Amino acid sequence: MRSDSGHTTSVWMNTADSPSLPRLAQDMRVNVCVVGAGIAGMSTAYLLARAGRGVIVIDDGPVGGGETGRTTAHITHALDDRYYEIEKLHGEEGSRLAAESHSAAISRIESIASVEDIDCDFERVDGYLFLGGDSQRKELEQELDAAHRAGLHEVELVDRIPLEFWNSGPALRFPRQAQFHPLKYLNGLTRAVIRDGGQIFTGAHADKIEDGEPCRVTTSDGHVITADHVVVATNVPVNDWVILHTKQFAYRTFVIGARVPRGSVPRGLYWDTPDPYHYVRLQEVDSRLDPGRFEDILIVGGEDHKTGQEDDADERFKCLEDWTRERFPMVTSIDFRWSGQIIEPMDYMGFIGKNPGTDQHIYIATGDSGNGITHGTIAGMLLSDLILGRENPWKKLYDPSRKTLRAAGEFLKENLNVAVQYGDWVTHGEVGSYEQIEPGTGVVVRRGATKVAVFKDDRGEIHERSAVCTHLYCIVAWNSAERTWDCPCHGSRFDPYGNVVNGPAISPLAEVNAESRGSR
Ligand SMILES: Cc1cc2nc3c(=O)[nH]c(=O)nc-3n(C[C@H](O)[C@H](O)[C@H](O)COP(=O)(O)OP(=O)(O)OC[C@H]3O[C@@H](n4cnc5c(N)ncnc54)[C@H](O)[C@@H]3O)c2cc1C
Ligand code: FES
Repeated sequence: MRSDSGHTTSVWMNTADSPSLPRLAQDMRVNVCVVGAGIAGMSTAYLLARAGRGVIVIDDGPVGGGETGRTTAHITHALDDRYYEIEKLHGEEGSRLAAESHSAAISRIESIASVEDIDCDFERVDGYLFLGGDSQRKELEQELDAAHRAGLHEVELVDRIPLEFWNSGPALRFPRQAQFHPLKYLNGLTRAVIRDGGQIFTGAHADKIEDGEPCRVTTSDGHVITADHVVVATNVPVNDWVILHTKQFAYRTFVIGARVPRGSVPRGLYWDTPDPYHYVRLQEVDSRLDPGRFEDILIVGGEDHKTGQEDDADERFKCLEDWTRERFPMVTSIDFRWSGQIIEPMDYMGFIGKNPGTDQHIYIATGDSGNGITHGTIAGMLLSDLILGRENPWKKLYDPSRKTLRAAGEFLKENLNVAVQYGDWVTHGEVGSYEQIEPGTGVVVRRGATKVAVFKDDRGEIHERSAVCTHLYCIVAWNSAERTWDCPCHGSRFDPYGNVVNGPAISPLAEVNAESRGSR
């Protein structure tokens, strides 16, 4: 399938078709408008359509073309921020609710895949958290105790992960986690939403989202959807300008897909403990040399950095490859390299619920950390309950308006980092002349008092846009792996021509006016 979130191709994009869906051609009136067709938006749309609500989903790209098409889809309640940390900020009851909600999400995905007969390779597998870097056994023991207090009594400490060719040392075993093919799952949800009377429009960019009775969603080609409720499931909300974006932070993470002989690595989910951590699983694919036979792709991710603050993807892919080959000698080739964006909330829990502030009918789902598949499914369960007027025990834990004073340290550290990025306004541009720009790459240049994002396409043609992010005016940086302009402040991303790829920005990079346009 096609992706509109970057240049690289994930194993999922290579092994699933995207359904052909119509474009929005007129104004519409509906009960619920969902903006964003990733796991969060599609899970919400599915549950509301099942409950008999009239639902429209819009997305400016294909279904699953955002981060859900770039995930590694470990489906787990082994939360990457650790239960002992969550407990410190949210108490034992908060930690218990976190475990309960992610466990329920795993079961909900399993039941939806089964009831809807979605052929998405869903499989229950065990998950293993093992030591890496300088981590000590104590860390695992601490997490084991906290996981038990959170109600995950079946988690146990084992001597090693079940790989006979590599002794990992002690690990925590989380039984009955799961994995699936995320795009095949979304294709199944798409079919079910349409069967239940919902409508899905792709190629529809929401330009403006306004609360009211009814709410209004205006698309960039001028159509208006009026709705009783709007769910903003754009991964990062495009309707909130400041509040949330000081409470969550964007990171880029990298993944390789290595071909290994079928059955040579036992199926499971594997993570190590450092920050950033490695995450590993397998996916069965058709053999390249012998179609009809299957081989395994060993998926290994990690090497995260803050969005827009480094551009060294080749080195990060190389580190992943070295790490993998050292532990998995059966790797025959590296067939996939891709990256994606992770949104880290400052207090470890995502934000799902009514949009903070005065909005009455606008809901958001964001801040899903490296657990966005379960988190997006929780969003579907929680937001559909809120819209349908049903009680939900997780409402307070995920409330986007909550204040977690104990997370003040993280808040200050990350927002200081944002403040430093505004210094890019006064630094020099990256090149002096267009001849120095390689085809297929972009460079920021100084032009008088401002900065210009210059992209030279593969044919050598120059495309210029203002380098000033349309969210809160930081200077964007070129991401050479994904061929996007990435903002180092709150993670907005734009394609080479300036169109928005990721919020919080909702508008494209501005045109460069005639006076400051450079000579070609
Ligand atoms: C490399 C990687 C590995 C990961 N591994 C895991 C894992 O193992 N387990 C796990 O649980 N999670 C994992 N995650 C996280 C998880 O994949 C994501 O958090 C999750 O897929 C996000 O889903 P979403 O629906 O919120 O967003 P998305 O899938 O990004 O969907 C948002 C949609 O909104 C659309 N959109 C945005 N703005 C607009 C607009 N203005 N108008 C119209 N449409 C718009 C986009 O086109 C997009 O399709 C990983 C993420 C990455 C990148
Ligand atoms: S994302 Fe906030 S300034 Fe760019």
